[in-house]
Amino acid sequence: MPACAGSLRLLADETRLRLLHLLEHEPLTVAELTAVLDLGQSSISGHLAKLKQAGLVHDVAEGSAHRYRLRDDAPETLRLAWAAARQLSQNDPAIGADQRSLERHRAATGQDWVARVAGQLHREYAPGRTWDSLAHAFAAAGRFGRCCDIGAGDGALAGLLASASTNLTCIDPSPAMIAAGRSRCSEAGLGNVTWIEAAGERLPLKDASQDTVLLLQSLQYVEAPQDVLRECGRVLAPHGRLLLLTLAEHDHDEAARYGHRHRGFRDADLRAWLKPWCAKPRLVHLPPEARAPRFQSILLTADKP
Ligand SMILES: C[S@@+](CC[C@H](N)C(=O)[O-])C[C@H]1O[C@@H](n2cnc3c(N)ncnc32)[C@H](O)[C@@H]1O
Repeated sequence: MPACAGSLRLLADETRLRLLHLLEHEPLTVAELTAVLDLGQSSISGHLAKLKQAGLVHDVAEGSAHRYRLRDDAPETLRLAWAAARQLSQNDPAIGADQRSLERHRAATGQDWVARVAGQLHREYAPGRTWDSLAHAFAAAGRFGRCCDIGAGDGALAGLLASASTNLTCIDPSPAMIAAGRSRCSEAGLGNVTWIEAAGERLPLKDASQDTVLLLQSLQYVEAPQDVLRECGRVLAPHGRLLLLTLAEHDHDEAARYGHRHRGFRDADLRAWLKPWCAKPRLVHLPPEARAPRFQSILLTADKP
């Protein structure tokens, strides 16, 4: 309750709401916010300090100035309170006037978007440059050959993988996932995808029959990860490749909500389980997620000799 009351108190201020609406669109410096809102610099700085202390914004040094932005990993209560406040205030005439004032300021100072986001593009929204579209582009460049996706889920990725595969076998023990995946693939007219209801611990595939095996955020769900990785080695053809994306070991209780059986994995365990068929898997820890509790993924590739 104190977190909720504190969040509502923080947002019960017209200037802070106007600042947040501007920062929702793009990161801005104190000088820019001062010019756009036509308020004193000390007042703007004071409000930003309160938003920063609460964890709703943070600032990044840029030369002698600081650029403020909304945090992706703001405390959940505050994020929800801001989402509600944003919706309630978005049609206020002052918010539209501030946006027009920002556009006039941009035109007057001759700043363009490209120069402004240089060095920050990985955090910025650019129309069409979504992780989804980038994943499609990279998958299209891949050649997976005879490919099997273990823990394929509902086929959200099948469309992306099928075009880069000779044939794609999607395996999952959940009848609901299999049904959803089948209908998704038939609607998309994907003729080279087969769906099989089975567990990764006992793959219904012949020895050495696959060029690529994918395990994309499914190993944390299985009962016996060691058995699944042994099966991957059995079904891979010589020079075939396993691509594994899973969570690094963690202690976040939140994982239980998603039905995980394992709290991520240690590098040493993954290496030991792969040892019978791959002496040197390549293992990379990806950056922690922006949103709390900041799960971290491991990307592992293992080649069959
Ligand atoms: C988070 S989903 C991942 C789906 C898909 N790979 C994706 O990235 O869109 C995890 C999947 O693992 C499946 N799973 C659970 N136990 C499994 C097992 N023993 N073998 C293979 N898959 C399993 C679940 O049914 C679920 O569909």
